[in-house]
Amino acid sequence: MRTSVLLMTCLAAFASAMNIIPQPVQVSPIMDASATILTGAKVEAPAAFAAEAELIRSAFKGPSNGTTIQLVQVTAPINTFEVGDEGYTISAEPAQPVIISARTAAGAFYAYQTLLQATYKGNDGKTYLPPGLIRDKPRFAWRGMMLDEGRHFFGKEHVKRFLDLMAMHKFNTFHWHLTEDQGWRVEIKKYPKLTQIGSWRDESPTMGDRNKGDGKRYGGFYTQDELREVVAYATKLHITVVPEIEMPGHAAGAISSYPELGNTDVKGYAPKVNSRWGVLPYIFAPKEETFRFIDDVFAELCPIFPGAYFHIGGDEAPKNQWDNSAFAKDVLKREGLNNSHELQSYFIKRVEKLLAARGKKLIGWDEIQEGGLSKTATMMVWRDWKWAHHAVNNGNDIVMAPTSHTYFDYGQGGTPKGTQFEVIGGNLPIEKVYSLNPVPGDFTPEQAKHVIGCQAQLWSEYNFNWNKVEYMAFPRACALSEVVWSPQEGREWKNFKGRLDNHLKYLDAAKVNYRKEDGSPAVTDKMGRGQ
Ligand code: ACM
Repeated sequence: MRTSVLLMTCLAAFASAMNIIPQPVQVSPIMDASATILTGAKVEAPAAFAAEAELIRSAFKGPSNGTTIQLVQVTAPINTFEVGDEGYTISAEPAQPVIISARTAAGAFYAYQTLLQATYKGNDGKTYLPPGLIRDKPRFAWRGMMLDEGRHFFGKEHVKRFLDLMAMHKFNTFHWHLTEDQGWRVEIKKYPKLTQIGSWRDESPTMGDRNKGDGKRYGGFYTQDELREVVAYATKLHITVVPEIEMPGHAAGAISSYPELGNTDVKGYAPKVNSRWGVLPYIFAPKEETFRFIDDVFAELCPIFPGAYFHIGGDEAPKNQWDNSAFAKDVLKREGLNNSHELQSYFIKRVEKLLAARGKKLIGWDEIQEGGLSKTATMMVWRDWKWAHHAVNNGNDIVMAPTSHTYFDYGQGGTPKGTQFEVIGGNLPIEKVYSLNPVPGDFTPEQAKHVIGCQAQLWSEYNFNWNKVEYMAFPRACALSEVVWSPQEGREWKNFKGRLDNHLKYLDAAKVNYRKEDGSPAVTDKMGRGQ
């Protein structure tokens, strides 16, 4: 009897330690030892880890029980394991303090996230940590999620919730797509018309009938105080916020507010905030006035976003207006450029200099190579994987964001009926997300170093409200968390799927409106605009 109870306890402990998502580098359970009670543990930590110590204390609060959790800041490998900038180890040996080691507060934070999943509740209501050793660190430095608020605007409380869910899965980069043809979402004090005019569209596509308007004015924007509040919130979660301000295309929000920034000399010039999704002809004119405007926007936004990178879009900028503008043609001649693709390269390189002067590195979608890629830009590969090769052969860093595996606006395989389930198209089931290796198979180890990470895209024309965002994001984000965190060689779909089935309890506890296996939403099907 005793043996079987002990065996069952060990198996329960083993199962909980094995169920972590994203899967750690190494989990080595000690099979015939008892688990440590964490409820009521005393937490000791150096000042550098004070915030993480407090998180652990409050997660496991209760009457004191004699357990100590020691957070230790290390500067050298731990028994040969190099934790790096974001890694950690957790050692839980019988009758010893639980020891969490990390170089950085980020590492300690990820140890905390792991503890939340590695523990289990005993019949006595206390929380137990199975005995063993966990060694862990991420595969990639850029582990991202992109949220488009240009098409639909969700507001800071939803964004903070999104950041919490990202942190739970050890994502560290929030790419915030803030301006679009359909709406400009950030307050710029020097240019008030951006939010008086550019943040609002006359109507939106009707749900289920995308070519028809719904007749309802729609929009919204973040004040700079709200942006700062979100960044501060993200910082505590060790998430860097990378803002995206689109240029030269996808800029109708800005150009409608200040028409002089566009190609005013083309026929029929009449910019307007767009009420349908699509690629629009309106792009910034290559005027000194435009570069001054962009620099003014950077002047207000760069101090708000402390991260190293600033995203300038760069995608889907049709060249018709430049090809038909006498002014743009004069710039081409003046600068000795051969065509409008080279003009795009000129535009992006000038913007890169403006950012560099403010201490920021430029990142842009893969069209930033049109007409010649700057040696120092970072490229986000979203279309053909050939652009990964192109950039890396040019010596540039890349972030993988391919439509083939990371476009979470695509369908997830079978969809229930109802206009609230409408998606842009495509099909990206979770298995396919999980199958992604962000490093192209034929890359050498030297080339692979240029792949700094990978991210998912939540384009939001058909994410009508926040419930829909969660439905589209989860559980595919759980799969992607493992793609970007866990070692490639240990990953296996069946194994992940088993852990995911258990992991859903954490999503349930957080009331996440994830897509269930039968296609239905976990919490609510109120996923329509205005619901
Ligand atoms: C993109 O999907 N236009 C980057």
